[in-house]
Amino acid sequence: MNQADWKNKLALIRDGFLSGLAKTDAAGLAELETRHLGRKGDLTLLLRELKDFPIEERKVLGALGNALKEELAAKLDERKAGAGAVDLKKSQFDLTMAGYPFPKGSLHPLTLTINKMYDGFQKLGFTIAEGPLIEEDYFNFEALNFPPDHPARDMQDTFYVDLKDASGKDLLLRTHTSPVQIRTMKSLRPPLRTVSAGRVFRSEAVDASHSFAFHQLEGFCLDRNITMADLKWTLEAFMQDLFGSSAKIAFSPSFFPFVEPGAQVAVSCVFCGSGAGPEQSRRACPVCKGTGWIELLGAGVIHPNVIKACGYDPIDWSGFAFGAGIERFAMLLYGIKDMRMFYENDLRILKQL
Ligand code: DAH
Repeated sequence: MNQADWKNKLALIRDGFLSGLAKTDAAGLAELETRHLGRKGDLTLLLRELKDFPIEERKVLGALGNALKEELAAKLDERKAGAGAVDLKKSQFDLTMAGYPFPKGSLHPLTLTINKMYDGFQKLGFTIAEGPLIEEDYFNFEALNFPPDHPARDMQDTFYVDLKDASGKDLLLRTHTSPVQIRTMKSLRPPLRTVSAGRVFRSEAVDASHSFAFHQLEGFCLDRNITMADLKWTLEAFMQDLFGSSAKIAFSPSFFPFVEPGAQVAVSCVFCGSGAGPEQSRRACPVCKGTGWIELLGAGVIHPNVIKACGYDPIDWSGFAFGAGIERFAMLLYGIKDMRMFYENDLRILKQL
């Protein structure tokens, strides 16, 4: 190749590039760059051929070639910079017009409450477990120390499903989250500390504080030498995290077949200044109805029969358990007075949170 041929080729590359640039859109810019300036691009290859020219010619042609290289790179940069920008005058839309407000979703108050409760227990070393909504009689009742036909089953009016489990018993909609304790103890090795929130079902008439479907949070611990003291400490730490450090808890005896001893746990009323507040303010408080306390949980030390049913020796292993109605917590946290509001899908409720 002589000088003239070389210059001719250079001019052809420039023409090719410019017509390519005129035709391409933003997406084609990278390809154009590779075609001319890439490692195997035509300009790169042409510059490489300079090695066959005598030194004097090489200097002159090299300068021309490099000048074109810079020119192409600059033109590419210019187009890239402009590619993202929109020419306001040319656009067929009025880009200065205010947009329509886009409705943002938000979490349901029950989901927010579950998240808060999970957070609180996770800080205390609990992990999260899950269980099915359609449950077997064995997990919902029997392993929890409710024998068949035992009157304690009457405490939980049950929806049965028209399907049978492997032992021929009707499946049911779980009436509480306690079966998750059994499933967890049977599938994981202790030491265990888990919480599990979810929907439960009872055949009950709907009013301001009852629904046929509601939510519970279950928690339990299985380890060595666990006592009521561990339960009290854990629940107090949790309540103070959720309601503030002045919150107090009170235990009173109660019966649940799967714990012994069993207790109802109340928290000092967060609205009228706790069970320790002046009696006058207590009497007027509509939330605790003047008692100073709000009952929030059932709890207790896990019954030895339950530990046995899960395959452990109750001499070696002990634990505590608790169950809370999530709607009650949500009502306290968000000042909602009627439980039906959680299920009515009224956006005005969500928008206040
Ligand atoms: N499962 C009980 C219910 O739904 C609540 C409960 C009470 C859970 C005591 C517990 C417990 O784990 O220890 O009425």
